[in-house]
Amino acid sequence: MMNLGKKFKTLPLFLLLASIALFLTGCASTSVVKAQPASAQEIAAGNIENGRRLFMGYARLQNDGPPCMGCHSVGDNGLLGGGAMGPDLTNVSTRLSQDEIASILTNSGSTLSPVMQPIFTDHPLTASEQADLMAFLNASVGQPESNKEIWVFGISLAGFVAAVGAIGFIYRGRLRSVRRALVNQAQKELQ
Ligand code: HEC
Repeated sequence: MMNLGKKFKTLPLFLLLASIALFLTGCASTSVVKAQPASAQEIAAGNIENGRRLFMGYARLQNDGPPCMGCHSVGDNGLLGGGAMGPDLTNVSTRLSQDEIASILTNSGSTLSPVMQPIFTDHPLTASEQADLMAFLNASVGQPESNKEIWVFGISLAGFVAAVGAIGFIYRGRLRSVRRALVNQAQKELQ
């Protein structure tokens, strides 16, 4: 019995220490890994599939940067494509040199995006992420660009038709009864 009482007394202390430990581990794991420009060798070794997963947001960027898909489209990615804030990147490696793309991904050098620069300064891409994204972007050249406008138009049209149908259905009784009343009245006047 004595032993049990003692154990319970140390419980709050134990919980306090455990939460401090958890808090410190949390802090350690969210500290930002410094961005390092990928070497030419690393870029060459980039993995297209990893790059695709990072781009689409299926895989988390190590420093918690937002997925590229939030602002960009590449190829025909998904029904509604990616965000439209940034340019479509399907053929970016025919517009920009590898150095210019690397400059954007490393957030250093002469080609910087005023929109991406502050975001990715706080959440830099790691060297292997840069290499994988570069490989993915290079591999997308020539793919059909996403055609989300048609889908957006189609979905809006379907929604409009459905809304008209629903309103017609809800008010069907009312229209009929108004008409019936008018018809009845007209018939009465004719008699
Ligand atoms: C918050 C929105 C946003 C996110 C997230 C974002 N970008 Fe961008 N990006 C832009 C904008 C906007 C531009 C156009 C330049 C500008 O106005 O800053 C751009 C430009 C680019 C360009 C140059 C395109 C060109 O044709 O000049 C590349 C390459 C690029 N982004 C790659 C990426 C990659 C890879 C990611 C993911 C790691 C990413 N971006 C995430 C907004 C974003």
